[in-house]
Amino acid sequence: MYLKESLDNILAKDPAARSRLEVILCYPGFHALFFHKIANALWKAGFRTPGRLMSHIGRVFTGIEIHPGATIGRRVFIDHGMGVVIGETAEVGDDCVIYQGVTLGAGAAARQGAMSRDTKRHPTLGKGVIVGSGAEIQGAITVGDNVRVASRSIVLKDVPDNSVVVGVPGRVIYRNGERVAPEKPQEDVPDIEAQAIKSLHSKLSELECTVRDLKGKLKQQTKELEQFKDKVCPELTLDINDPANSGINSSVDLKSVDQDPVDVFLQGAGI
Ligand SMILES: CC(C)(COP(=O)(O)OP(=O)(O)OC[C@H]1O[C@@H](n2cnc3c(N)ncnc32)[C@H](O)[C@@H]1OP(=O)(O)O)[C@@H](O)C(=O)NCCC(=O)NCCS
Repeated sequence: MYLKESLDNILAKDPAARSRLEVILCYPGFHALFFHKIANALWKAGFRTPGRLMSHIGRVFTGIEIHPGATIGRRVFIDHGMGVVIGETAEVGDDCVIYQGVTLGAGAAARQGAMSRDTKRHPTLGKGVIVGSGAEIQGAITVGDNVRVASRSIVLKDVPDNSVVVGVPGRVIYRNGERVAPEKPQEDVPDIEAQAIKSLHSKLSELECTVRDLKGKLKQQTKELEQFKDKVCPELTLDINDPANSGINSSVDLKSVDQDPVDVFLQGAGI
């Protein structure tokens, strides 16, 4: 029953899978969960070291590390799997998909060492969660049902059901299919790249204002020059709309602030 369900689940979810035999022979995620079943049974029966050993053998064999104490639901699919780490108190709901390089880690609790032993330190994933490659979900947080976590995101806070989370730190950008307005910045986790972009963006805006001022002044002066020229030497022609005369290259596109992609990014980043 377990075998059939697992094999059919992988066949249904992975377009690359062609047959049950192929899955049995070539799918490390399938192997890792099989090892985990045994390791978890040993762990629950109180055989802690044999449980750890079984988990370790699974890791050597597959590149996927699942602590024997972790709770894994039905029809979970670990695709490719290399580098996946699932911590002791992590819970993974039914029908989740986890790609390579994902960590379900203990976050700050890892630093507390033995003091945090036997406490809930790792995340809980609801049902149908998809965690993209290289994403990190850290701490005893809850990620709701049907959440999708983008590749390389770092999720440090609870995520409501039916959301899409992206970025470092992870932010909800879609909830129930609707785009979410930017949230307040997470002050406890500095977003260094976004801050740098914000600072560059404000400097760029200042420069754009200065250029606009200069352009205005130059136009004014050119007009005055035109008037002066009309009085002194009317036969001379001077086209003030010619960029060569205004001194400003009109091909420089001073973009509308609303459509600036940097603005769009900053809004998405919530800063
Ligand atoms: C994150 C994910 C789950 C969202 O899927 P989705 O809901 O179908 O939507 P999209 O892929 O269109 O992405 C939704 C938004 O997130 C953005 N996004 C997706 N991945 C992102 C990432 N890693 N970092 C930042 N933004 C990302 C998209 O640009 C899009 O933004 P937009 O709506 O402003 O255009 C999907 O991109 C995914 O599954 N990624 C991981 C896949 C993976 O790891 N595959 C490994 C196979 S080997």
